Amino acid sequence: MPEEKSKVDMEKIVSLCKRRGFIFPSSEIYGGLNSCWDYGPLGVELKRNIKDAWWRSVVQERDDMVGLDASIMMHPQAWVASGHVEGFSDPLVECKTCHLRWRATDLNGDSCPDCGGELTEPKLFNLMFKTFMGPVEDNASIVYLRPETAQGIFVNFDNILATSRKKIPFGIAQIGKSFRNEITTGNFIFRTREFEQMEIEYFVKPGTDEEFFDYWVKERFNWYLSLGIRRENLRLRQHGKEELAHYAKACYDIEYLFPMGWAELEGIANRGNFDLVQHAKYSGKNLTYFDEETGERYVPYVIEPSAGVDRSALAFLVDAYAEEPAEGETRVVLHLHPELAPIKVAVLPLSRNEKLVPLAKELYAEFRRHFMTQYDDAQSIGRRYRRQDEIGTPFCVTIDFQSLEDKQITIRERDSMAQIRLPMTEAVKTLQAKLSGEPFATQPLWATRTSGVSDK
Ligand code: GAP
Repeated sequence: MPEEKSKVDMEKIVSLCKRRGFIFPSSEIYGGLNSCWDYGPLGVELKRNIKDAWWRSVVQERDDMVGLDASIMMHPQAWVASGHVEGFSDPLVECKTCHLRWRATDLNGDSCPDCGGELTEPKLFNLMFKTFMGPVEDNASIVYLRPETAQGIFVNFDNILATSRKKIPFGIAQIGKSFRNEITTGNFIFRTREFEQMEIEYFVKPGTDEEFFDYWVKERFNWYLSLGIRRENLRLRQHGKEELAHYAKACYDIEYLFPMGWAELEGIANRGNFDLVQHAKYSGKNLTYFDEETGERYVPYVIEPSAGVDRSALAFLVDAYAEEPAEGETRVVLHLHPELAPIKVAVLPLSRNEKLVPLAKELYAEFRRHFMTQYDDAQSIGRRYRRQDEIGTPFCVTIDFQSLEDKQITIRERDSMAQIRLPMTEAVKTLQAKLSGEPFATQPLWATRTSGVSDK
């Protein structure tokens, strides 16, 4: 049976991202750096919106969660305790003919996928990046760039317990960069050596861990749906025993149907008490929890939902991408959820006519106080709508000559291309309501106004 793949072509996503300023190859003027990418003006907004939506859902809207921003470099012993120095490795094979290196688990056959040459036996290769702290480059000054944000949370467990007065069950959330010297990278921003994670460590009483594990799997799955990912493009996959990470008791992946096939978007693991026990042992500190109600003292178990910002960005872009017939041509549109859309509103004066510009600029200044707004007066209105569709802008506001007289504007919605006309004084309130999900009134244009802007 052919492997299932998204209908969206990765090349189209990469090209749109480059063309419109979402994502560029890193250091491109020097020929780029393998697997490193830079987020441009629209990409940075998309990424911020993803992180904000995550933070709002897992920290702001809950009273059992707090946030943290730990440093990327940590005491090297933390990585010994966590098992990463010993066990965070992938089996690496090398082609004896062309010397390309491969992750053994990525290969289907036993010959080099590039030249067909014979491969060496697998050797374990540690994925942590090493560097030196201070001026002396010796073993005593080695530090690692963190390969996951999780350990910064575990080593702060006691600090947070003492200062936040949270009682179990409670969680700590963190967003930040992680680094892995991956053997094989690729598929655009899917697997890179520098990436951003959004991780939660949720501390629970032993024995309640399975219940909270199920809870978080559902919670996180629904988060993607709530931001517009199509149900048929998401699935859950349970890890087999042989696949579990060294710390995990159980793990589910939330998988997305990417252009190259189904692949992990987020992992939710039951880490048991592995990490706190290890850090207590290596640091000599007491990392137990005292339950005042029952008088019990125990090492909490941990449920860990761990998501990637970059992978989420890719999934949201792929899921939103569409090529649709519109007025005799094909429009490319990103049906991004309004919360994620980099630009919420575009102000488009009908022309650069000097009578229209002051009013359009006035609105632009007002909107900017409320939403990320773009002003575009170049080329035909149809071309400008297409440009905004292509970057996922939910609403375009047009100002025409009648606006000068009746102080009304037209709002055009991206997905339906429907338009409404309303008094300028109601614009911000209406846009706010529509951006928060109020249905767009698709009253026919002709019934609401006598002049305006067609989609062409
Ligand atoms: N603390 C657990 C942990 O790090 P993981 O499954 O190795 O678990 C969690 O990583 C998430 O981080 C993945 O689901 C993925 O979204 C993201 N991620 C991991 N490695 C990545 C890489 N090389 N490039 C981009 N994202 C990555």
